Amino acid sequence: MCGIIGYTGNDNAKEILLDGLSALEYRGYDSAGMSLFKNNDIITVKTQGRVSELSKKASAQFSEKTFCGIGHTRWATHGKPSETNAHPHGTENVMIVHNGIIENYKELKNELGNVNFYSDTDTEVVAKIIDKEYRKTRDPIKSIINTHRLLKGSYALGIIFADIPDTVFALKKDSPLLIGTGKNGMFIASDISAFLKYTDRYIRLSDGDTAMITKECVCVFAADGNKKTISEERSVKNADVTGKGNFNHFMLKEIFDEPDAMRNTFGSLTKDFLPDFSATIPDDSFFEDIGTIHIVACGTALHAGLQGKYFIEKLAKIPVTTETAGEFRYSDPILRENDLAIIISQSGETADSLAALRMLNKKHIRTLSVVNTPGSTIAEESGKVVFTLAGQEIAVASTKAYNVQCEVMLFLALKTALVKKTLTSAEVKNILHSFSRVFTDSIPTILSNNTPFRKAAEILSGCKNAFFIGRGYDNYSGQEASLKLKEISYIHSEAYAAGELKHGTISLIEEGTPVISIATDKKFYEKMRSNIEEVKSRGAVVISVCCENAQIIKEISDCVITVPNGTFAENPFTTATAIQLLAYYTALEMNRDIDKPRNLAKSVTVE
Ligand code: F6R
Repeated sequence: MCGIIGYTGNDNAKEILLDGLSALEYRGYDSAGMSLFKNNDIITVKTQGRVSELSKKASAQFSEKTFCGIGHTRWATHGKPSETNAHPHGTENVMIVHNGIIENYKELKNELGNVNFYSDTDTEVVAKIIDKEYRKTRDPIKSIINTHRLLKGSYALGIIFADIPDTVFALKKDSPLLIGTGKNGMFIASDISAFLKYTDRYIRLSDGDTAMITKECVCVFAADGNKKTISEERSVKNADVTGKGNFNHFMLKEIFDEPDAMRNTFGSLTKDFLPDFSATIPDDSFFEDIGTIHIVACGTALHAGLQGKYFIEKLAKIPVTTETAGEFRYSDPILRENDLAIIISQSGETADSLAALRMLNKKHIRTLSVVNTPGSTIAEESGKVVFTLAGQEIAVASTKAYNVQCEVMLFLALKTALVKKTLTSAEVKNILHSFSRVFTDSIPTILSNNTPFRKAAEILSGCKNAFFIGRGYDNYSGQEASLKLKEISYIHSEAYAAGELKHGTISLIEEGTPVISIATDKKFYEKMRSNIEEVKSRGAVVISVCCENAQIIKEISDCVITVPNGTFAENPFTTATAIQLLAYYTALEMNRDIDKPRNLAKSVTVE
């Protein structure tokens, strides 16, 4: 999704902005641009497409060193991807970059009256309002605060005024924005990775804050115009995490990171093969007397929530609801005093998940977040937070984060089961012993041989539609498998509980339609075999992802991907790695842009 970087200081601003924009590329974008001060003027360059293109254009424009500017990667919301709609936007007096959505931009545009607009963006409207306010007040802070009072929606803004050289202004509401404080200059960014190479110190802005940033100092003003005291924080994130190593794609590298990510998470959240959350939840009473657990998340994180539902209901015997955050936030859920809400988010910045969390906080419901990004807004605003230790994910498609999210959900289920006494310590230890095989043996075994994935990918890559079927936790794995295949290969697919297909959708199965059956839960082998027979007799080509011992599934499948035999505490994890590799090799066969699939963003900061 959109990314912001701004800089003022002694170093080469053009290079720093380009570096920052490259670091933000992983978020997904369709155009990029930047505005820099040059000889008492602001010069803007933009491009539709990649930052590498912008870099070529910028080199032609800025041969001399520049010291201050703002840059942006845009993921289109208002107006198609084009150079004209790319940010920065503005007038001869002011240029701005914007993340988020201005919900009342149409009304504001009308109120501006006789003003010409060159783009279709909501951002241009904001720039023109700031310009108007600035001409009235000649005070940059007042003009930004006055504009803030008019806006509805979510926004992080980076702003420069033509007659205030080498100064960057910022405004934040419901969209992430940080100020980096370095020895050689100051930064603004929507994501710390944009300036982490230069400084690990930052100031977090609150909603409604306006900031004025020069190369020596930062002043922050509250929405009422009063100056605020600010405090600096230090990032625990490592700047040097963005390499692909010997892999052709980040996605493949990140799938290969899974054993380490799971081992690290295991190390931080277990002790002697028992779950241990004492670092963040010291008091076991947190897990006592829970009525219903509400799991709220989006996309892949929601699918991890479904696996969590399975674990919690099976082990701790607590009812669980799972809901996509975009619906939950506007629904009227039945919430009781002793309920617990779990928000799952890799980025910790997903707009809908954050809004759901805020809604739950307002209602005083116990909240716990499972987050991969320290310092993210969801992590900061949750009652309790448990960190997954996947390390940064760069590929848009979430892989290692999913497996560690499922892992934490298993640990939470086991912890609650222990506190509720639905399981004994010996039983929990047994489960965690079998789970640990996943990262010591099973996933490394799957990663060691790509032949079955390549064979299945050859079948899938010629197709337009595919179906996934499974039962129990294999059904939930199918949901994630379908999402993974769609997002990076662009093959349309749907996932069904295997028994549900015949209630309508089976009419779509014809000669050659691929059906991917996921059959790792032994108790369903016979049922799954019948479901496979049903689709095969209508012409389907069946690819099965199953355990080695699933002989009755293997013998009727056209193509087989096996995962090591395992229990319920292993199979969802090994299956995840297998279906990620299946999607990866299919997309590779189809020559897709695997790490940056079209239309997608890594961090979805608009609703
Ligand atoms: C798919 C994917 C998305 C995210 C979703 C939630 O591969 O990555 O479906 O899972 O956008 O993102 P987070 O976990 O950052 O809240």
